[in-house]
Amino acid sequence: MSPEQKTCASRVGSGAASGKVILLGEHAVVYGQPALACPVLLETTVSVRAADGPLSLKLPTQQEPALWAALEDGRLRAALEQALGLFDLPHAGVTLEIQSALPMGRGLGSSAALSIALLRALSAYTERHLTESQLLEAGLKLETCFHGTPSGLDHTCAALAKPLLFTRSPWSVTPITLKDRAWLLLMDSGGERSTAALVAGVRARLAEAPSLYQPRIEAIGRLVREGREALEAGDWVRLGACMQQNQVELEILGVSTPGLERLIRVALDAGALGAKLTGAGGGGMAVALFRESPEILASQLQAEGIPAWSVELGPRARG
Ligand code: PMV
Repeated sequence: MSPEQKTCASRVGSGAASGKVILLGEHAVVYGQPALACPVLLETTVSVRAADGPLSLKLPTQQEPALWAALEDGRLRAALEQALGLFDLPHAGVTLEIQSALPMGRGLGSSAALSIALLRALSAYTERHLTESQLLEAGLKLETCFHGTPSGLDHTCAALAKPLLFTRSPWSVTPITLKDRAWLLLMDSGGERSTAALVAGVRARLAEAPSLYQPRIEAIGRLVREGREALEAGDWVRLGACMQQNQVELEILGVSTPGLERLIRVALDAGALGAKLTGAGGGGMAVALFRESPEILASQLQAEGIPAWSVELGPRARG
């Protein structure tokens, strides 16, 4: 790159990206079945400004312990330096400010959203356009700083901001276009959980009783294929039924908890078309599908101390 290109004409740049939620197919995806993920329209934004002195960071205050932990153990700084390097920028002379409406460290793809937002901000700052494939390639490098061996789903969903059908091996991602709007309610049942331990638990059960568990994995794969058709057709009743059945399968796989099931029941009693745990389970998030915005229920849950978000799923998704 020439010295002229390194001159940052705009001196300020910002970028945003959203998180993701797995609608159908977690755990079975580890065994080659497809899964369906949707963007969560809660965004992480990054602003880059020219400043004197060493690289400085402005982070959201204490609400985001996951981000502070990533800073303390060096992953955040490694990702930032990697990103600056990709744009031939020195590790000095800029202030980076991170803000996030997306809860971090809760299985919603926050590090991927941060990675893509950071790349978009640096692209604006340097006035160097990134093609979609360059953004995806660079996003995977940053995600690797946070997660070691990411599946690649999260940063793809953050970059494309579209529902995606994906399989792991061979790796394939198919964007899905929505015709109609619906809403998701995300509810956090709390608890610290380890995706690796939960995945290992399912693997152990599969090894012990394959005739019991392998059909469950295959059933989840069929639900994902049916859910994809329902999503494309805007058939929310059918999609909700797929989510319901997927939750039953996840309970058999042993990754649900009473706390998740209580939140699922609350959502169904309030008129959700379907509800299930999302991500690895063992605590953490549940997702419920609604035809109309569940904003009031989200506020009621929040008033009871349960973190909850109502997010739109539909053609107005950016990207
Ligand atoms: O909870 P998350 O966002 O880490 O999702 C885990 C999804 C699993 O299918 C359980 C594991 C995986 O790597 O796909």
